[in-house]
Amino acid sequence: MTPWPELDHLLWTRFSTRPQFHVTAPGRINLIGEHTDYNEGFVLPAAIDRGLRLSGASSDEGTFRVWSAQFREEVLVPLDRPEDPPLPSWGRYLQAIAGELRRAGVPLRGAVAVLDGDLPAGSGLSSSAALEAAIALALLGSARATVERPDLARLAQRAESEFVGVQCGIMDQLTVLLGMRGQALLIDCRSLEVRYVSIPEHLALAICDTGVRRSLGETRYNERRRECEAAARRLGQARAGIRTLRDLTPQDLPTIDALPDPLRRRARHVLTENARVLEAVEALAQDDAATLGRALNASHRSLQEDFEVSTEELDAMVDAARGAGALGARLTGAGFGGSVLAMIERSRVDAFTSETAKGYRASTGREGTFLVCRPSDGAQFSYV
Ligand code: GLA
Repeated sequence: MTPWPELDHLLWTRFSTRPQFHVTAPGRINLIGEHTDYNEGFVLPAAIDRGLRLSGASSDEGTFRVWSAQFREEVLVPLDRPEDPPLPSWGRYLQAIAGELRRAGVPLRGAVAVLDGDLPAGSGLSSSAALEAAIALALLGSARATVERPDLARLAQRAESEFVGVQCGIMDQLTVLLGMRGQALLIDCRSLEVRYVSIPEHLALAICDTGVRRSLGETRYNERRRECEAAARRLGQARAGIRTLRDLTPQDLPTIDALPDPLRRRARHVLTENARVLEAVEALAQDDAATLGRALNASHRSLQEDFEVSTEELDAMVDAARGAGALGARLTGAGFGGSVLAMIERSRVDAFTSETAKGYRASTGREGTFLVCRPSDGAQFSYV
């Protein structure tokens, strides 16, 4: 990650101005609770010590201009008509956030900024939510305006759904904005209540990137979401009180079993995954690594067989990680490519990484990349 003095210097060389504010925004991993957020269920993610840095200053030009060191490209968004015409790739996030802030009645002021990060896009670590948070905090800071973090998370989620086209849930945006050092967040995605859960120091979180990008898995992501909604509608006809798949209980299993495939398996995943999240929270509280590991492994199987969002490479990485002594391993994020999260004893990290790399190479012929991350604070804004 570019050190601050260098980023500030870059701001000077690109826009001839000194910084007035700094923003950081982390990526996230999800310990467990996958594809449950848009079903109003439970998730257990954490912000990580990788992400984005932005150095910026207000301007009187009525535009938002951002240079990305990662993409080596500048994007310019006019603040009076931010969404017009739609820009390709990362510029679209700037447009979407500026558009949503405007709709929320925030008086936008022009700004220039430079941005750098160390989150690979499409690796399942929520680089897009980090970008949304960084942009939103920069625009708010430039206008000296504030929006409460949970409201900002909802605004960023709307931006992504409506303008970028991924009908995502709220997990990533809430985690990136509300993360806390050393803690995971148990989020009830119905009430949006957040409870912090400590991750014991002896447990290390290893992100094992398959190197296969989730090349705009939007279509299949949105398809899963529609399947869940269809399953909930049918189940709601069978039992009053089922509005979303969150409302399912083990007593509903016979009704779930009577659904046509794949709705049956999609509903079963959400029911069992919600239970596994609560089980994992309990295991963390008891420092019971064996139960936690089993819950992670069961989550992967359910995502593989019932929810069908895994890939050959993700499965190979999970096998390699388990073979190298992981307490538990599962795909993290939306799936369809990206990364595996493995939980291991911290004392075993070095041997684990090299053995997993070897195992993954042997079964796929590919090179994985590995990152041991720490649960970290959410996005930060400060005036310089
Ligand atoms: C993506 C979405 C999240 C969530 C996960 C799957 O990361 O942005 O809202 O649905 O997939 O758990």
